[in-house]
Amino acid sequence: MPRRAPKKPDPLIDLSGHLRISSRLARPLVLRTLFERQAPVELEVGCGKGLFLSNMAGRAPNIDFLGVEISAAYARLVASKLARANLSNARIIQGDGLDVLRSCLLNQSLNAVHVYFPDPWWKARHRKRRVLTPIFLAHCARVLVAGGLLHIWTDVEEYFRESLDFVEQTGLFEPPVEERELLSTHDLDYRTHFERRTRQAGEPVWRAVLRRNVFPTGLERVVFDPSVDVTELDLDSTILKTSLE
Ligand SMILES: C[S@@+](CC[C@H](N)C(=O)[O-])C[C@H]1O[C@@H](n2cnc3c(N)ncnc32)[C@H](O)[C@@H]1O
Repeated sequence: MPRRAPKKPDPLIDLSGHLRISSRLARPLVLRTLFERQAPVELEVGCGKGLFLSNMAGRAPNIDFLGVEISAAYARLVASKLARANLSNARIIQGDGLDVLRSCLLNQSLNAVHVYFPDPWWKARHRKRRVLTPIFLAHCARVLVAGGLLHIWTDVEEYFRESLDFVEQTGLFEPPVEERELLSTHDLDYRTHFERRTRQAGEPVWRAVLRRNVFPTGLERVVFDPSVDVTELDLDSTILKTSLE
């Protein structure tokens, strides 16, 4: 379903402290430099309106939160929220999640990766645009520290099950654990806007958290590559097959 463009942020808000553009990033991206301190970092791919980033950055000041959002309009909106709330521990990159994972982030640089309500791309010819592919999941394992967590939530059961199958095939994560639904105490007390929307419509949410194996086999074959231009890749998972064989 086409989404309405979000409201433009107030032009007087300075986004430069919070917004980055992926094509202009240093590769590798030094997280210590980006956040101007050394702290655990968590990544969210597909931030939408940025509820997760802004809520979590406010609640956990000792953790740095990095978002990646492909839509320039949404990335700017999120940056404006982070700037307005003066959150020094959150940044948003406008760009493609796989590109940032694969070509910017070094091995074992993150404590958690969060993917909430990724676009399902229902039509068969669009499915290759899905974020949760085998190659994406293998790079999640590469950038996570041993024991780091990957959170996957969606309202699409088929996408959920397919993603968990892909995760299992990598052999790089422990079996999934279901995440419980938490009671919300106010209108913005949800993990994301899509979680709020889905729950308020009385529809189910599929939630799993996966821990990266401490001694994964084959991880050394998932390689950081700062030279890859994601637009040239065939994202239909052939890359992962060749790199893990
Ligand atoms: C269905 S929305 C969910 C937004 C948010 N996670 C939530 O739960 O409210 C999916 C978001 O992922 C973004 N997105 C889609 N493909 C992406 C990609 N390859 N890299 C980064 N963001 C992406 C879309 O622009 C959109 O904002």
